[in-house]
Amino acid sequence: MSLVPMSQILIKAQAEGYAVGGFNMNNLETLQAIIEVAEEERSPVIVQLSEGAIKYVGIEYAAACVKVAAEKVTVPVALHLDHGGSFKKIVQCIRNDFSSVMIDGSKLPFADNIALVQKVVEAAGAVGVTVEAELGKIGGTEDNHTVDEREASMTVPEEAKEFVERTKVDALAIAIGTAHGPYKGKPELDFARLEAIRKLVDIPLVLHGASGVYDEDIQKAISMGICKININTDFQQAFSGKIREILNNDPKVYDPRKILGPGKEAMREKVREKIRLMGSNNRA
Ligand code: G3H
Ligand code: 13P
Ligand code: ZN
Repeated sequence: MSLVPMSQILIKAQAEGYAVGGFNMNNLETLQAIIEVAEEERSPVIVQLSEGAIKYVGIEYAAACVKVAAEKVTVPVALHLDHGGSFKKIVQCIRNDFSSVMIDGSKLPFADNIALVQKVVEAAGAVGVTVEAELGKIGGTEDNHTVDEREASMTVPEEAKEFVERTKVDALAIAIGTAHGPYKGKPELDFARLEAIRKLVDIPLVLHGASGVYDEDIQKAISMGICKININTDFQQAFSGKIREILNNDPKVYDPRKILGPGKEAMREKVREKIRLMGSNNRA
């Protein structure tokens, strides 16, 4: 199948009450693990690359590989820019056939975030590309925030309503207590805030930093209106954990296929676990 706009995938997920993985791709093995398992599980899927991943893989390689991968399967696949930081990067991705982009203006003042998203929605909308934006700050687990700072970084429901009305964005990433990277303790999600946002905002909501979030909390968040869930760290850890094991167990191994291949297998199992957890299996 050709790439599809992410909104097509998310509108169905929202209507039917499940979530679709926004799975970060960092190399060919990650892409293969995501696509193969999505096909086996009959699940729609969103393959996304951060700006760092695009720099590492190369934008032309990334787009070409994801397009070939999508053509080989029968489930809907969207190619999405994760945390795009500038209008320039958005245009580069659209030019390279991305079917969806995230513009992350979350560090900007509210009015500037709105203005930037409006500009992206106008450009992307003209060519049928979906736009995700972020309101509130989803930081990293290494950011040492006080309780007050943590609270202040979260999405304000009334602002979310105004933001969505004024930008006409397709999907909104919200800050409700998750962070990017590995957690030290149990991540505590602010479900009351999610409920308040859901009451005021009817577009698909996105949960970032979902690696390490407890399964029951993922399912609760989905039942309360989250329909895209971003995972990167869990796949990276599965990959590197397996590779570390192989290299430690066999100091003589040198063939990359015997090192990266099992790494890919480990990611495949993680992808399957996440797809089933989100309930997107058998929804294609
Ligand atoms: O949301 C952030 C992703 O985990 C991307 O991380 O910038 O290290 O590729 P990265
Ligand atoms: P994790 O790396 O914490 O899973 O976060 C992924 C993410 O939010 C990508 O945008
Ligand atoms: Zn993120």
